[in-house]
Amino acid sequence: MTCTAHSPRSNPIRISKRVLNISPSATKEMALIAAGIDGCVSLGQGVPSFATPPHIVESVITTLRENPGSGHYTLQTGMPALRRGIAEYLRLEKNITVDPESELCVTVGGMEALLATVMTVVDEGDEVILPSPTYASYIEQILLAGGIPVFVPLTKTWGLDPEAIGRAITPRTRAIMLCNPGNPTGTVFADDEIISLCKLAVAHNFVVITDEAYDYMVYDGAMPLSPLSIDAFRDNVISISSLSKKYALTGWRVGWVAAAQPWMKQIMKVHDATAICSPTPSQFAALAALSGDQQCVAAMREELIKRKELCCARLDKLSKYFSYVPPKGAFYVMAKYLFSTASSQHVATRLLQEAKVITIPGGAFGKGGEGHLRLSFGGELQVIDEAFDRIEQWLNGGMQK
Ligand SMILES: Cc1ncc(COP(=O)(O)O)c(C=O)c1O
Repeated sequence: MTCTAHSPRSNPIRISKRVLNISPSATKEMALIAAGIDGCVSLGQGVPSFATPPHIVESVITTLRENPGSGHYTLQTGMPALRRGIAEYLRLEKNITVDPESELCVTVGGMEALLATVMTVVDEGDEVILPSPTYASYIEQILLAGGIPVFVPLTKTWGLDPEAIGRAITPRTRAIMLCNPGNPTGTVFADDEIISLCKLAVAHNFVVITDEAYDYMVYDGAMPLSPLSIDAFRDNVISISSLSKKYALTGWRVGWVAAAQPWMKQIMKVHDATAICSPTPSQFAALAALSGDQQCVAAMREELIKRKELCCARLDKLSKYFSYVPPKGAFYVMAKYLFSTASSQHVATRLLQEAKVITIPGGAFGKGGEGHLRLSFGGELQVIDEAFDRIEQWLNGGMQK
C-alpha cells in the first residue's frame, strides 16, 4: 500500500538526536510569530534596512547577461579573482596575510563558514567556550556537532573576563567562539583582551574562532584586531567574515573563512559536502562590492550612527524601565528591563502581542542574556521612533506587571 499525505502514519517519523537537540533561532521565531500579527514594527532581526547598492546590482546584471558561465558552479573555494580580492582586502584593512589559493574559502554567508568550521573543530563531547551573551546560532552549531557549549559570562559592561575564561578551560576545550564587534551586546573587545585569549589558546591547544561580520561597524576607534594578523597565533585562529551587513547583501549569501592551510584543507571538505560553492552571481556581487566605490559603506555607516543615537536617546528617556551599556559596534543594544522579573521570552512575547513591537528575548543568547531584550537599530529612523513610541505607551499605559 502506498502512503499518501492523507493516510495516517503507522510509524512516527524518526529525527536524529543531533537535530532534536537544537532549536530554531529566537530571531526567526519572533519573526514567525509576528507574521501572524498585523502592523508590527521591528527592533528584532539584525538586518540593516538598506537596499543592495545599485552599482553592485548593475554589475551582476551585466555579468549575468554577458558571461554565459556566470550561472555555473565556481571552484569550491570560490572564484580565483574574488579570493585574490579578499586576500588584498585582508592585507590592506586587517594586516592579515593569507594565500588566496590555499587559505581562503568563499562560503554561503558567514553562517556556513561558521558551521563548516565548528564541524571541523568539534567532536562529540568536546567543549566550546562562549563568552556570553553570545550570537545564538553558535550554540546550535556546537550542539549540532555534538559539542558542549560552555558559557562564560561577560562582565557587567560586556567585556571579556580572562580569569573566568581561564577557569572554564578543561582538557576537552577545543575552541572559543568570539564575535567582535559583538552581536547581541554591541561590545568591541580591546586588542589586549583578544591577545590574552589567543595566548591561552596556544598554551592549551584550542582554537579561537573569530567572527568578524561587523568589523566595519565600530562607532569610535579603529577596526578591532583580527588575531589572524599575528603570526604566533596563525595555527590557533580561524577567522570568519561576511559581506552581508557591510554591503547590504544579506540575501545574497556570501562570506568567507580564512585560516592556515591545514585547517582549510579540512574545512573545505565540509563546505564541499554542504554547499559545493557560494552562489556564483553572489560571488560576482562580492567582487563588485570589494572592488567598487566604498562610498556606499560610508553612507550606511553614517546612517547607522544616527540610528544608534536615536535608539540610545529613546532608551535614555526610559531610564526608569531600562538600563543598557551603550554599544561600541554593530547595531544592537542589550536593554536590561527593570520593570519586570518575568523571563525575557515572556516580556518579548507580551511586547509583541500587546504593543506590536518585535524584540528578541535576551535569554536566547545564553547565560547573561536573561533579563534583557536585544534591540536592533538596523531599521529606518521612523521605524525606531515608532517602535519606541509604542514601547513608551505600553510602559506608561496599559502594561500590567
Ligand atoms: C554575529 C553574526 N555572525 C554571523 C552572521 C551570519 O551572517 P551571514 O550568514 O549573513 O553572513 C550573523 C547574522 O546576523 C551575525 O550576526
